Amino acid sequence: MKRRKFIKHTGFTAIAISASGFTLLADNGTYKGDCPTTTDILGPYFRQNAPFRNELPFRESDDKKPIRVVGTVFGSDCKTPIPNVLIDIWHCDENGNYDMQTEEFRCRGRFHTNENGDYFFTTFIPPAYGRVRPKHIHYLVEKTAEHKELVTQLYFKGDERIKPKNWVVHPWDEKRILDIYENENGEAEVRLDLYLTAS
Ligand SMILES: [Fe+2]
Repeated sequence: MKRRKFIKHTGFTAIAISASGFTLLADNGTYKGDCPTTTDILGPYFRQNAPFRNELPFRESDDKKPIRVVGTVFGSDCKTPIPNVLIDIWHCDENGNYDMQTEEFRCRGRFHTNENGDYFFTTFIPPAYGRVRPKHIHYLVEKTAEHKELVTQLYFKGDERIKPKNWVVHPWDEKRILDIYENENGEAEVRLDLYLTAS
């Protein structure tokens, strides 16, 4: 395994402990085990029919650093990769606004996992917006014949706005607060593996 160079990992105090050994229940009482990815709010800014693309438009003039997001989608057994799953992602623009109207669908995209269950996209780290929201990227993973839809969000480690009982509700939500590391191509990258729940 390659040694990863962590380039940003400051200002965050870990609050999580291992969830192993516990039976976990979601708010609706249906969630068991400690592998399924925890859900998060959909929010009011989802738009259907975003363009199919892995590289979200990134302007050189933007004062933002590009970032690559990678991951694998697994089934409810926590180990079987799921190919051809449709994923929607969206986040705010550099000014903290969501594109709700233009045909550019700025900062939005859709793609499927490949034959190995892997996905990736490139974009920039969106700014925090509002009074309390940390930086985040929204995900909607479409349901499959065997799995439920998953609505969740990705956060970045070191974000001072992330606080217990604020955006980290459950200890195991920390799996969605990610380190930024430098990949073998010298790119800033984060990894969010997603674990679906059986339907
Ligand atoms: Fe948002």
